Amino acid sequence: MSSRFHVDVARARTPEASFYTDADGYAREVGRVFGKSWQLVRAPEMDDVADFDPTRIQLEPVRVESRGPLLFVTLDTHIPSVPEYFPHLAADCAPYGVEKMRYVTSRTYPVNANWKVYVDNFLEGYHIPLVHPALNRELDYRRDVTTLREHHVMQFCLIREHGAEHYRTSPGGPPAGYFWLYPNMMLNHE
Ligand SMILES: [Fe+2]
Repeated sequence: MSSRFHVDVARARTPEASFYTDADGYAREVGRVFGKSWQLVRAPEMDDVADFDPTRIQLEPVRVESRGPLLFVTLDTHIPSVPEYFPHLAADCAPYGVEKMRYVTSRTYPVNANWKVYVDNFLEGYHIPLVHPALNRELDYRRDVTTLREHHVMQFCLIREHGAEHYRTSPGGPPAGYFWLYPNMMLNHE
């Protein structure tokens, strides 16, 4: 699904930025009114500000695409859509039922590392026996199947038939799947 929204964007490199930003660096938006064509028509307490021109300020379009609980947002409406940029992603993810997934919770793990190192770690499996011995008893990384797509990598990891306790797949269900979407998004289903 694709939708269009508009947001107030404080452009840091334009003269108007000083009127948006207070002493703490936070954008001030309270009370401002935008009219037709998303044009600013009222800005409280800005009447006496020199060179403040509301006709130069308008809300910017934002394109939002959704895939189940995932939202893909861009301020640049001229870039390719998700299916254009990832032409095989929908078909590759189809076995996992992404469209039926629902948001449950969020966790944040700050990692002080170059993001490319993290991607490499995400996709290679030879560290698993050394770093994740318990996981290694469940997944057979030597049978990983990695497929390079146009802008994403798809990796399947097969679960050992004997000894697996935590990563049992339902009969007939898809294997553990690891998807890396260029440049910095990873999807994982186990
Ligand atoms: Fe790991």
